[in-house]
Amino acid sequence: MKLIEVVDLYKSFGDVRAVNGISFAVEEGTIFGFLGPNGAGKTTTIRILVTLSEQTSGTAIVGGVDVSADPRGVRSRVGYAAQATGIDRDLTGRENLILQGRLHGLSKVDASTEAEAILEVISLAEVADRRAGTYSGGMAKRLDLAQALIHRPNVLFLDEPTTGLDPQNRNAMWTYLRKLNDDGMTIFLTTQYLEEADELADDLAIIDNGRIVVEGSPTELKRGIGGDSVTLMPSTDSSAEDLEVMATAMRALHDTNGVEKLGDSVVVYLEDGGSRIAEIVRAIDTTGVQLGRLELAEPSLDQVFLKHTGARLRVEDVKPPSRMSRNRRHR
Ligand SMILES: Nc1ncnc2c1ncn2[C@@H]1O[C@H](COP(=O)(O)OP(=O)(O)O)[C@@H](O)[C@H]1O
Ligand SMILES: [Mg+2]
Repeated sequence: MKLIEVVDLYKSFGDVRAVNGISFAVEEGTIFGFLGPNGAGKTTTIRILVTLSEQTSGTAIVGGVDVSADPRGVRSRVGYAAQATGIDRDLTGRENLILQGRLHGLSKVDASTEAEAILEVISLAEVADRRAGTYSGGMAKRLDLAQALIHRPNVLFLDEPTTGLDPQNRNAMWTYLRKLNDDGMTIFLTTQYLEEADELADDLAIIDNGRIVVEGSPTELKRGIGGDSVTLMPSTDSSAEDLEVMATAMRALHDTNGVEKLGDSVVVYLEDGGSRIAEIVRAIDTTGVQLGRLELAEPSLDQVFLKHTGARLRVEDVKPPSRMSRNRRHR
């Protein structure tokens, strides 16, 4: 069943077309990744889906409910953690969660019970009575995630849940998200990180300049770029002629998806490259050219992004602020 269905969605801010006619669907129980660089339109899309912003045109259905027709109905079904954390630094972790639960209409007792359970799941039980202002970046992001879960939504929307986290905290967040998904939660997450989309998403859409440029499972997308690549370099004392001889031998192989000369190497694209290494080496052998190096690479989302946008998606890792330096107030 489709839990989210978006058809021909547009959003303009004055002259800026932040979202420029996108359509996609998210299957219940999956993790859907919305991958794109800064300014691509990710936050704008997610804000429409959680009813914090109205689209200029097009439709968005979440959990069977039209976001324009029944925003309140949608809100009861979704959890949302914004790009910037929405926690109150003066309250403890537990107080933040209970407050959020109350805002969602839970009774005091229910909010408190839910908070307890979630603190446990998200490994914040030990620091639950500390002011959130003293939390590290990773803990704050986790508390933010916890807040989005307090009313037991069907679907969780996370806007860049790991941006600014160090690799260790990022990995921890991935573990929690997988666990939630294993327990049946549908997750829609935006990310700038290729590895994150690759690691977590069952399906993903790559968005650039307000448009979806390509969509599919990470495996499908990577398959679409022509399979594995085998890079062959002749030994150091070889000539340009040797390179051409190698390229010719590779072009004579059956079932490849292309051969190209790149610098001082020959690259062969083909399915299941690992199973064909012996064949490739034998073919080079018969030419008499000395093989210096051979590299086998699986296709990456990096190559997928490059192919479909003509640019590389490279994100500088933001160093999270250290806990001690963070605007600590003493009372
Ligand atoms: N409230 C706004 N007013 C004007 N322009 C906006 C507003 N919000 C977003 N934009 C513009 O819309 C585009 C998409 O932004 P956004 O959805 O935040 O991208 P992302 O989350 O992928 O980084 C950007 O060009 C951004 O500057
Ligand atoms: Mg954003």
